[in-house]
Amino acid sequence: MDDKSIASSRPVGIFDSGIGGLSVAQKIRELLPNEDIVYVADSLHAPYGEKSDSYIFHRMSAVTEFLLAHNVKAVVVACNTATTTAISRLRACYPIPIIGVEPGIKPAALSTHTGIIGVLATPRTLQTHSFTALAQRFAKNVRIEIQPCPDLVTRIEALNLNGEQTVTLLRQYIFPLLDKGADTIVLGCTHYNHLSGLISQVAGENISIIKTDAAVAREVARRLSSEALLATNNHAGNEEFWTSGSLAVYHQQIEQLWGKNSKCYHWL
Ligand code: DGL
Repeated sequence: MDDKSIASSRPVGIFDSGIGGLSVAQKIRELLPNEDIVYVADSLHAPYGEKSDSYIFHRMSAVTEFLLAHNVKAVVVACNTATTTAISRLRACYPIPIIGVEPGIKPAALSTHTGIIGVLATPRTLQTHSFTALAQRFAKNVRIEIQPCPDLVTRIEALNLNGEQTVTLLRQYIFPLLDKGADTIVLGCTHYNHLSGLISQVAGENISIIKTDAAVAREVARRLSSEALLATNNHAGNEEFWTSGSLAVYHQQIEQLWGKNSKCYHWL
């Protein structure tokens, strides 16, 4: 094996504060069935969206070090909060491909008819310079209404993916956006992808819901290909799931959102 094929046989690292990034990992798995994946849910430290910049960057660095110790060839920051807070700083520290996820303002701007876009995201994401810059890029053509959603990530981590209390919380976050005339709602947090069906039901059938999970998977494929890092084996890739939180809870989360008999480990 030459150096390039050794590099390309290494796994792709993916992380989030918890299980939100699994939605991105699923799209990566569909698009790149032969890649090995190491997924980290930093659940002990979730939600990132209610933490400070320095705390989030410290966690991003710790998880990236963990993934590099597992020999990953690229890191996917499957978290809007972490990406908008500090992906440039992370890239400056680690010389491997680092792919992030940002709220899908661009596809939303292309989809809206009323010219009004609602963005659901964590409080932290909506406060970042990088989100403000992203929103300003489209501000000439569309109006962007933001809605921070505290408590939603915690409910999703607890696998409360339906049920009256989750619906009540979603109504509280979505109805003000509809009242302002939004016809397009951006899911600006990867955790919310797990609620996209329910969000669509609460918002109503005329409202477009924008997710970026598939676009991120395409970007991962493009980056791996351009760096000659795509796996060249022809067998199905493995997955390893690590958590900094409770392993018992993680087993339930992974079984429900990924499938039975997945390999789950506790990261001490
Ligand atoms: N899944 C995350 C995001 O995309 C982080 C949520 C959180 O930990 O607050 O923003």
